[in-house]
Amino acid sequence: MEEGGTARPKPWGGRFSEVQTPLFERLNASLPFDHVLAPHDLRGSMAHVRMLGAVGVLAVDEVVTLLDGLAQLAKEVASGTVPWDLRDEDVHMAMERRLTEIVGPVGGKVHTGRSRNDQVALDSQLYLREAVHGHLQGVLALLETLLARAEEWRGVIVPGYTHLQRAQPVSLAHHLLAYGSMLERDAGRLLRWFESSWMPLGAGALAGVNYPLDREMVAAELGFAMVAPNAMDAVAARDAAFEYVAVATNCALHLSRLAEELVLWSSQEFGLFALPDSWTSGSSIMPQKKNPDAAELVRGKAAGFIGRLASLGALVKGLPLAYNKDLQEDKLYVFQTREELDLCLQAMEAMIAVLSVDSERARRAAEGGYAQATDVADYLVEKGLAFREAHHVAGRLVGRALEMSWDLSQVPLAELHALSPLFDEGYFAVVDLDSVVAAKISPGGTAPERVDEQLRGARARLADLHRAVDGVWVPPG
Ligand code: ARG
Repeated sequence: MEEGGTARPKPWGGRFSEVQTPLFERLNASLPFDHVLAPHDLRGSMAHVRMLGAVGVLAVDEVVTLLDGLAQLAKEVASGTVPWDLRDEDVHMAMERRLTEIVGPVGGKVHTGRSRNDQVALDSQLYLREAVHGHLQGVLALLETLLARAEEWRGVIVPGYTHLQRAQPVSLAHHLLAYGSMLERDAGRLLRWFESSWMPLGAGALAGVNYPLDREMVAAELGFAMVAPNAMDAVAARDAAFEYVAVATNCALHLSRLAEELVLWSSQEFGLFALPDSWTSGSSIMPQKKNPDAAELVRGKAAGFIGRLASLGALVKGLPLAYNKDLQEDKLYVFQTREELDLCLQAMEAMIAVLSVDSERARRAAEGGYAQATDVADYLVEKGLAFREAHHVAGRLVGRALEMSWDLSQVPLAELHALSPLFDEGYFAVVDLDSVVAAKISPGGTAPERVDEQLRGARARLADLHRAVDGVWVPPG
């Protein structure tokens, strides 16, 4: 990007007798990051110009010239040949300067009845909409892969944990469906983001403008359901951006928890999951190492999301109406959030797709952790014991089994009788891992028929989500 040096007067420079110092120019410029708004800026300008023509502010030939120039500029942007120059300050002025180079002085008419304040608010709305739509694709793709793996692994029994101690055995599908459920909520939140989206152009700097603009026409062309009702709010509001970062952060937190389970379960101590070599890295010193860096990074990147959310909140807090230059910084948080979430969603989807599970070891882990103890207590309850008493007997049984290095299925009947006369042969069926899992028949539980029900429900809701995403907004073709 061309930088400073030869000072150049600004388009707004009429009342200034000195040019900007290069250092201020550098502080002030958003072009190094907001250049990504260029395609949106041009679409907004096209809609604005068409509308100015329709209400008679621009002549027909001016509209034609400007639209031709904007279309040519859009091609330059798409092919990456725009000569960016830091002295333009921001993407809006860079686009106007280049348009004027292309079409001549009539280019200066594009900004009639518009301020950069409402222009940037519009660009941000267009950008966010595209970002949200992209995340929805990513979330649904991950959800699809999770469901496919869950269907494949519905018969795999793993230890379910609380306090990171083996708690009760569950189907691996049940475990994955928990993440499916989180992602469904993320998709719902992303879809609801569209409800807070509106078309701000026409607000001008803050007071509205001196032209009878047809804001509804611009909103219709750009696919917005509503026009921002108050000009000051339209240029000062950043709650749609904050909401976007909040929704994205929530999703990143879910990915972070899933990533942590990949890290943990692929450790030698757990040894339940394995990632292929292509998704791991080695150590520069320890030849034996195979590290789950990708999962660690997805886990770690959640920190950045939280930081950006907090930063955006801090940026807006206590800011007086209407536009203040502080607001230029919002883009840093929004742009990075989009990139990072897309990256994390794609990486997670790819890793889940190639993850393998050691189902034998998982079963042994579930078996060896006395994870059937709650079921033993329930069995004694069925025989007439109060649950608290049954809990105590089952606890003593675990203590005795630990002492003797027995699994629960290896405890001799005589030992059981010594603990309670209520024990009989039926005990051995109760502590069988498959029956423990099969007994969790409450809705949402891990019994095979309940897991199948969850899978069917999740599949049906995924189809609904696809329909909702297709219906909420159609990206420009
Ligand atoms: N680059 C600016 C931003 O992103 C555009 C708006 C500038 N408005 C102004 N009054 N200086 O916020």
